[in-house]
Amino acid sequence: MCGIVGVTGVGDALPYLLQGLQKLEYRGYDSAGVYLTDASGKNALIKEKGRVAKLAEKAKANGFAGTAGIAHTRWATHGNVTVENAHPQKSSDDRFFLVHNGVIENYQELTETYLQRVHLVSETDTEVAVQLVDKFSKEGMATADAFRKMISLLDGNSAYGFLLVDHEDPETLYVAKKKSPLLVGVSDHGNAVTSDAAAMIDLTKDFIELRDGDMAIVKPSSVTIYDAAGEQVNREPFTLEIDPEDTDKGAYPYYMLKEIDEQAVVARNIAGHYYDEDGNLQGIPCAVTDAIEEADRLYIVAAGTSYHAGLVGKRYFEQWAKIPTEVHIASEFAYDQPMLSEKPFFIFLSQSGETADSREVLDNVKKQGFPALTLANVMNSTLTREADFALPVLAGPEIAVASTKAYTAQVLVQAILAAALGNPGFDLKAELAKVAVEIQAITDEKETFKKIAEDALVGQHSAFYIGRGLDAAVALEAALKLKEISYIQTEGFAAGELKHGTISLIEDKTPVFALLTQSKTAGLLRGEVAQVAARGANTIVFASENLAKEGDAFVLPQVNELLMPLLAVIPAQLIAYYATLARGLDVDRPRNLAKSVTVQ
Ligand code: M6R
Repeated sequence: MCGIVGVTGVGDALPYLLQGLQKLEYRGYDSAGVYLTDASGKNALIKEKGRVAKLAEKAKANGFAGTAGIAHTRWATHGNVTVENAHPQKSSDDRFFLVHNGVIENYQELTETYLQRVHLVSETDTEVAVQLVDKFSKEGMATADAFRKMISLLDGNSAYGFLLVDHEDPETLYVAKKKSPLLVGVSDHGNAVTSDAAAMIDLTKDFIELRDGDMAIVKPSSVTIYDAAGEQVNREPFTLEIDPEDTDKGAYPYYMLKEIDEQAVVARNIAGHYYDEDGNLQGIPCAVTDAIEEADRLYIVAAGTSYHAGLVGKRYFEQWAKIPTEVHIASEFAYDQPMLSEKPFFIFLSQSGETADSREVLDNVKKQGFPALTLANVMNSTLTREADFALPVLAGPEIAVASTKAYTAQVLVQAILAAALGNPGFDLKAELAKVAVEIQAITDEKETFKKIAEDALVGQHSAFYIGRGLDAAVALEAALKLKEISYIQTEGFAAGELKHGTISLIEDKTPVFALLTQSKTAGLLRGEVAQVAARGANTIVFASENLAKEGDAFVLPQVNELLMPLLAVIPAQLIAYYATLARGLDVDRPRNLAKSVTVQ
């Protein structure tokens, strides 16, 4: 979704802002803008539709670099993709400049009540916010008070991360946030504000996480924070533990391919973190296992790929830890809470830790007094901070919109947590070492999957992934990968359901990928493959070593059957990648999508 960066007192502001925007590009956007200023009040506002590279060209040509500035990547919600609607938005007299992430629910009412005489040039809710600051300032309020008053008028459901500059005090950044992440980056050569710490690591690795309702005043050499009650508060910075190189593509053409390839290393890192050298589990505090053991049912709540990872994790919690487990889509659970057991325990799964749908559920759950654990890739994120417990998923920065290594990492960490709560009945640590080796072996077969993708999918408008049991769960993730980046409409299906309706969609050459790794249902799945083949489908079977037959498209190395999802998903990731390349599309930046979905 939209991204925010701002700097003050950094010497030459433009390079930091442009690099920051480039690092935010992966989140998805359709226009971008930058406002630059310096202590003398000289300034420039530059906005563009489309890529940050285009904005960068225009900004560099302008020649003014500034010592402070704010910048934004916009993913349109209110108003079309136009230069007028891009941020920063400004007040009519060019005094205030504002960037905003989130949605102001009552912006139309605010316009009617307060801004009838103001000519609005954009269709955005954000312009309403900046014009309100201007109006209250003209009525005699100091800028901080005008900013605070504007925020106080926003509907309770509104989400915002605001960054404001007042042309009359150009090196001061006014910041506020609610339900939308914002961090203040601190250094002894200037300060920064950003919606994603990785965007500012060229300036600093030290960040203060703002909380909902906070307002901050950031100057070149000071940061003052006020909480929701208006009290000045002291918040300690944390140090971000990422290497700037982790967020670079290196020699890879796309982040997605790099991240697919990183999965073997991620698997080893996770095992290294959660097991000591003697094979004993570590890194899961007793408080976590004790709290889960008190529960009579687990509720896993997540969205998209993370939800799919939860469907696999359910099996581990039920089979190894013997705890009944339900998996729920966050956006559904948030507004239709199912009947809960007497002692529920919630597990939130999230790559970003910022998904608004999951945050809404966590809010509700906390209000009801239930305990919650977040498993997230981005620690220090809202979901990790607001849950009672948090464990790291340790996939490393995931930049491509299509999630790959975060999925395998989430499955792995759930397996380890379930093992800590019960008994898998085999040496999980040893089996995970094997999984890492076999992930590597599959990712080394890129040419095979490139050919399968090109042969089966070029020219096709629809496809299916089918499986039974755990393979049905992986089929959902496989289908999401293919459709979200290649735009080939793909359904993931529990194979036994085909005959209840979907089989009528099978036409001559319809690609049907079958995942066949579960021995209990292998015979039935073979039957379903035969049924769609008899109706003209192009069937492509990925079977595990123990179950493979001649004619299968790829034989997956054999590991414990319950861990096969970790291998079965890899061909699907690579097929999605190569099908998208073959269609000439941007793998990392599918249309209309954002990396972390911070609005509901
Ligand atoms: O950051 P989260 O894991 O909470 O994000 C949830 C979904 O938006 C995400 O998994 C999405 O489905 C993937 N990017 C798709 O590849």
